Amino acid sequence: MTEQSLKNLAIIMDGNGRWAAQRGLSRTKGHEQGAEVIRDITEYCAKHPTIETITFYAFSTENWKRPKLEVEFLMKLLEKYLKNELETYQKNNVKFMAIGNTEAFSKKLQERIQLTEEATRENDALTHILALNYGGRAEITHAVNTLIAEGKRELTEADISSALQTPYSDVDLLIRTSGEERVSNYLLWQISYAEFYFTQTLWPDFTADELDDIIQHFQQRNRRFGGIL
Ligand code: FPP
Repeated sequence: MTEQSLKNLAIIMDGNGRWAAQRGLSRTKGHEQGAEVIRDITEYCAKHPTIETITFYAFSTENWKRPKLEVEFLMKLLEKYLKNELETYQKNNVKFMAIGNTEAFSKKLQERIQLTEEATRENDALTHILALNYGGRAEITHAVNTLIAEGKRELTEADISSALQTPYSDVDLLIRTSGEERVSNYLLWQISYAEFYFTQTLWPDFTADELDDIIQHFQQRNRRFGGIL
């Protein structure tokens, strides 16, 4: 059996709150630790021979429903993270990209996102994507409206794929941490033929070693794409 080639990896990072509660810490400590894990996983992916993109679900369109203080903390953490990570991106030749409706964020955060995207535009070992104020249905709706505004009357799948925010149209492997087995409005179009992997590990405990094991498992899976290969 041929090994599956993994190009586009997507991760739903879940369990920061439970990780913190288990330690008697505030939820914000879980998010801080979670941000550290993003760096380790990005460095691993940048060195991986076949991975081209990694897309992390960092803030969903539904996450605004969280307590105001937690949302504010996540926004500040994101800003701090991008500031600190610029060095990691450059050192590892990683291109940064944001998807989602970032216009809802503060001007300062929007500027930081733009600056990071521009500074890393030419890097090509890996594209590291953060889904921010992102929802899969909103992304598809936006793509369709863009195509209608361009004058298209009848759409093909290829039209929609090309109007999405992601630089790819297919995720190969979707991982969700913390034992929850839901898709939560993530990359709905792109996961049509993705392999899913659910791990009990809480996101702040996730490691590059575990990712390596999951990838080896993925490589042995027989993806048939609806055929009988
Ligand atoms: C879910 O944990 C996690 C999120 C809200 C998204 C991921 C966020 C981070 C890793 C924080 C930092 C991100 C960046 C980019 C700086 P949860 O709070 O839902 O956990 P729970 O289900 O155990 O409550």
